[in-house]
Amino acid sequence: MSSSTEAPRDPLSLVVLISGRGSNLQAIIDALGRERIPARVSAVVSNRRHAGGLALAAAAGIPTRVIDRDECRNRDDFDARLSAQVRALAPDLIVLAGFMHILNPDFVQAYDGRMINIHPSLLPDYPGLRTHERALAAGAREHGASVHYVTEELDGGPVILQGRIPVSPRDDAAALAAKVLEVEHRIYPLTIRLIAEGRLRKRGADVLFDGHRLERPLDLADFATTDPHDAGARVSPAT
Ligand code: GRF
Repeated sequence: MSSSTEAPRDPLSLVVLISGRGSNLQAIIDALGRERIPARVSAVVSNRRHAGGLALAAAAGIPTRVIDRDECRNRDDFDARLSAQVRALAPDLIVLAGFMHILNPDFVQAYDGRMINIHPSLLPDYPGLRTHERALAAGAREHGASVHYVTEELDGGPVILQGRIPVSPRDDAAALAAKVLEVEHRIYPLTIRLIAEGRLRKRGADVLFDGHRLERPLDLADFATTDPHDAGARVSPAT
C-alpha cells in the first residue's frame, strides 16, 4: 500500500550527559512533555553515581546509565566506557547538561555537529568555571548563557543561541547564577526544538539556521513567546 502523504519522521533521539543536579535536564524533559517538539530523551548518562539528575530522569521514566569516574581504572578506561555506552545508545544528538568531564578528541570528532553544550556565560566571554564571579569582577553590565556545538576547544565551539540578562549592582554571584539558570532553562529546550525541526545544523565552524550561515548567535529575545514557559513559540529571528 502506498500513500502520498509523507510518513512522520522519527523523533530525534537525545542522550543527555549529566554530572549533577540536572535542572537543565528537567527543563528539557518538561518542555518535551509540554510542547510539540519532535524529540525524546532516550537515556541519561551520568559520570557520578549520586548525581541528582538521575532521580529526575528515573521519575520521568527515562533509562539511566552510570559510568562513575571514580570506579574506572583511569581516564582512558572511563573514556572507552563512555564511548561504548553512548555508541550503544545510538543518539541523534548528545546533550551535555552540566557534564563535568573534558571529552576525548576522538569522541568529540565522532559526534561533530551532533553534540551540544550549555554554558553559563555569553561566550566567548568567560569559558571555563566560575563564570558569574568573573563577570562581576569584570564589571560586566550584561551576562547570560549560551548553547554551542561541542568542539575540541573547551566551551569554544560555534555558538547557536544565547539569552541575556542585565547585571544589577545588587547582584552577587548567587543571584546572578539564579537568573542565568532561568535563561538556561529556556534556551536549551528552544535549541533542541530548532535542531529537532531540522532548522539548525553545523557546517565546519559555522552554524546554519534555515540554511543560512549565522553571522552572530541567535538570541532568545528574537523569539517571540506568548507564554513565558513556551520557549518554542516563535517568530522569525532577525539574522
Ligand atoms: C549549568 O549552569 C550549566 O550551564 C553548566 O552546568 C550547570 C548544570 O546545572 N554547564 P544543572 O545540573 O543542569 O542544574
